[in-house]
Amino acid sequence: MIIKGGKAFIDGAFLEKDILIEGGKIRGIGAFSAGKIIDAKGMLVVPGLIDPHVHLREPGDSYKEDFLTGSRAAIAGGFTTVMDMPNNSVPTITAENYEKKKKLAKKAICDVILHFGATADNVSEVKKANPPSLKLYLAKTTGSLIVDLETAKKHFDSFPKERPIVLHACSDKEDEEENLKETYDLQQKVYRIARGRRLHLAHVSSKKEISMAKQHSNVTTEAAPHHLLLSTKDYPRLARMRNVLPTLKSPQKQIMLLSALEKVDCIGSDHAPHTIEDKDAGAAGFPGLETSLGAMLDLCNRGICDKIWLMQRMTENVADAFNLKDRGRLKPGYLADITIIDPKKEWEVRGADFETKCRWSPFEGFKFRGKAKTVIKNGKIIYDEYHFV
Ligand code: NCD
Ligand code: ZN
Repeated sequence: MIIKGGKAFIDGAFLEKDILIEGGKIRGIGAFSAGKIIDAKGMLVVPGLIDPHVHLREPGDSYKEDFLTGSRAAIAGGFTTVMDMPNNSVPTITAENYEKKKKLAKKAICDVILHFGATADNVSEVKKANPPSLKLYLAKTTGSLIVDLETAKKHFDSFPKERPIVLHACSDKEDEEENLKETYDLQQKVYRIARGRRLHLAHVSSKKEISMAKQHSNVTTEAAPHHLLLSTKDYPRLARMRNVLPTLKSPQKQIMLLSALEKVDCIGSDHAPHTIEDKDAGAAGFPGLETSLGAMLDLCNRGICDKIWLMQRMTENVADAFNLKDRGRLKPGYLADITIIDPKKEWEVRGADFETKCRWSPFEGFKFRGKAKTVIKNGKIIYDEYHFV
């Protein structure tokens, strides 16, 4: 199979090169003509997008999402790999639960990598499960995985240094200024005890956190599209759906965040589906897999960021941050996980059309330009012309 005539994202540039796929892998980059041809004229051909932060909710909360619906949302959004969070109501904190979750995740149609959850007394379980990354909640979140700094230190010392520990470290009331200080203090303390081990700061939502993180070469950061596109100005429109952690910031803080965007390493949707009933009961979180790419391309279209910059943050930077060696780049020998984007496709966000069980969106009614048109997973076309094959 040959993807022909598109602009392929290779080594930090868009180049007019064809991609040759064979046996589920990328075999060549250049000019090819023999084989089944996928015409990609006018399209961006990029490595299958990788989302480092999603909540697919299985097991325990499959009424909100499961591995099939969540992975369909991923593919429809252009993602071929997602990294699932451990804060299920059956949390991923023992080796046994981790293995069970891996089995459940087999029904996903994209690759799902599981973050393991840290608790006050599960250092030995982490060792036993030997996961590629560990999630540490230092502040209030959905579920009950909150730990203190002493526990954090235990995990910092015991988890392999080159594997990232993902931090959720934000106050749950950050829309008030004094609570932002809590967040900054907490993060400074964490950096002090981390002593150079690999850390990944989830969902940064202020310029200050980015600047602080960037003073440490061992820390990577991730930003979510909703913090970049929305602010407290959207509260009246979002009404009872507005809760999210970290909270949305003031319009002025949002602009400051955008001004620091360049320093962010990864984009993570923090896809956190909840039913409307759960939102009414105060649940925090937005669905994001099907809007992440469109929202970020919207920022590109508005001149706030650049498509090359963006693609790095949705592919290779995520692969690098999480030591994924076989994906995230268009390179011979790499998995043939490829997303073909029509950068001109205009579309409107309608939760009712989503693949996720969560059929609402904080971006409802937003008009975006740019969408995943075709998705190839392990060399097979599984999504084409904006529909599942
Ligand atoms: C997430 C969830 O619902 O699991 N909610 C959220 O508001 N982001 C939890 C989280 O990411 O901390
Ligand atoms: Zn999350």
